[in-house]
Amino acid sequence: MEEFINLGYLIAVVLFIVGLKQLSSPKTARSGNLLAAAGMGLAIVLAMIAPMERGDNNYVWIIAGMLAGGIIGLVSARRVAMTDMPQMVSIFNGLGGGCAVAISIVELDHYQGMTDLSIGVHMTTLFALFVGAVAFTGSLLAYGKLQGLINDNTLKIPAPTVVNMTLLVAILAGIAFRAYAPTEPFFWAYLILGVSLIYGVTFVVPIGGADMPVVISLLNALTGVAAALAGIVYDSQVMLVGGILVGASGTILTVLMCEAMNRSLWNVIIGGFGGSSGGSAAVEGNIKEISVSDSAILLGYSESVVVVPGYGMAVAKAQNEAHELEKLLESRGVRVRYAIHPVAGRMPGHMNVLLAEADVSYDKLLDLDDANNALSTTDVAIVVGANDVVNPAAKDDPGSPIYGMPILDILQAKQTIVMKRSMRSGYAGIDNPLFFHEKNRMLFGDAKDTLAALVSEVKNLG
Ligand code: TAP
Repeated sequence: MEEFINLGYLIAVVLFIVGLKQLSSPKTARSGNLLAAAGMGLAIVLAMIAPMERGDNNYVWIIAGMLAGGIIGLVSARRVAMTDMPQMVSIFNGLGGGCAVAISIVELDHYQGMTDLSIGVHMTTLFALFVGAVAFTGSLLAYGKLQGLINDNTLKIPAPTVVNMTLLVAILAGIAFRAYAPTEPFFWAYLILGVSLIYGVTFVVPIGGADMPVVISLLNALTGVAAALAGIVYDSQVMLVGGILVGASGTILTVLMCEAMNRSLWNVIIGGFGGSSGGSAAVEGNIKEISVSDSAILLGYSESVVVVPGYGMAVAKAQNEAHELEKLLESRGVRVRYAIHPVAGRMPGHMNVLLAEADVSYDKLLDLDDANNALSTTDVAIVVGANDVVNPAAKDDPGSPIYGMPILDILQAKQTIVMKRSMRSGYAGIDNPLFFHEKNRMLFGDAKDTLAALVSEVKNLG
């Protein structure tokens, strides 16, 4: 029976890996998701069979927990809007961290009085407690920020770097002490837990505004690490490999996000950057509006157009209209491409997913560097509900909270059009000098309606 279970775990792990691989392309992502889910289903069934072998029986609790969690998960996954996905991911991360905390506390309690406990096992469990607790409170706070329940400016801590460094050192010292002195009162485990829960909050508090994607992917990686550590504690290979896959992919994503935002990972960990306020220069000037028909003429008689999608395209669900405009312009001989910023929207790959859903060909999507190269030979760059990712303050204003973040430098194009509903700011909460630039024209309105109107105007051009 044990061989059968281990073989099943191996199959589950292979399904995770193949599923993850398939997630790297929009064409195979759907089947990759199903394969990974099948692997997880298999792992759960096998984990249920395994304790039967040893004669344990907690099935009522396990099945009740699975039913409650499964129903809540299914209902919330069905209800959640695509634009609210990052909040959902944050909650999932937090719950994963919370599970690692629960497992660790139960195990640490179980170790009490054991004389032959290895330091390695004890330390691993304490690390699972620490990482799980940070992921738990950090993710809940990230959820609050993303959902707009917590404002970056209302929750602040003085000297966050000093506070975070002190807490981090205190936690690591506490773990080392308890691991080498396992007979010390259980209070120590709770103390490490308490400080770790506080650190989860203090490390996310200073990060906000446009830097949130970095913290979300880091918390995702931490959840994977916590699961992997719990896998070591339970001697469960499938949990270990699953945790490593989440931890490794989350870490790669975090590094990519750090590169995308031009931030250092160390600064993220000690909470030394970010926020939505700052001494950014006041933006003044006049904006110039453009009508739908003039925009249609400008686009229809261009040679090359770059579409810059952002969060507003997701809110308006305007991807199909964008694709329709693209096809129409291409039929007139205009070369149309899309410029995708790595943090456009509210989750990694957000724009890629939406455009793939609308059947936009993948080879039309330019990443940040390719887009910036292409923009200098572009006639019109048309922004569809993007704001922070095209904000030139990131390049020109050292006082801006987004200073240093690479942007899509659309002012290189001959003409720019920004499509949005008002002069309101984007996620980072800062003004955008692009709107006032002489090359730019504002095309106000809901992105879906405006694109639909543009499509019919371009059709009328003849
Ligand atoms: P944002 O800077 O958030 O700007 C989106 C703009 O869309 C807003 O200014 C809004 O202006 C406009 N908009 C909203 N609804 C619209 C509609 N129905 N029609 C037309 N326009 C609409 O978006 P972005 O440029 O994509 O940048 C993303 C931001 O989110 C970055 O700061 C990034 O760091 C942050 N963030 C990203 C992620 C990931 S991983 N991608 C995760 C968390 C946070 P109006 O209200 O005037 O229309």
